[in-house]
Amino acid sequence: MSDYFIAGNTIPVGERLRIENDGKKISIFNVDGTYHAILDACPHKQTAPLFRGTLEGETIQCPNHGFCFDLKTGECNKGPHLKAVIFHTREEDGKILIGPPKND
Ligand code: FES
Repeated sequence: MSDYFIAGNTIPVGERLRIENDGKKISIFNVDGTYHAILDACPHKQTAPLFRGTLEGETIQCPNHGFCFDLKTGECNKGPHLKAVIFHTREEDGKILIGPPKND
């Protein structure tokens, strides 16, 4: 529990939030009431902000070259070498909490 930190206030369904913690940018998406958090640097070039990607269901599409990442697993449609870092999330007292990576 102590390895979770407060990322911010809860956001409405369909909205997104980008935060920075410990030098890492993390994008958080509320998909149908479930929070998903992903390291906000596309694994393809390490620079593109996934925050500005297109969200379709539980998949985020990178705004640069269109690679897609599963927000539940980090898996990329272009192969396992491009897996994104996904974080545990929880909601508590109107706040979004981010935990350790699920798949690091
Ligand atoms: S930088 Fe994201 S797909 Fe190329």
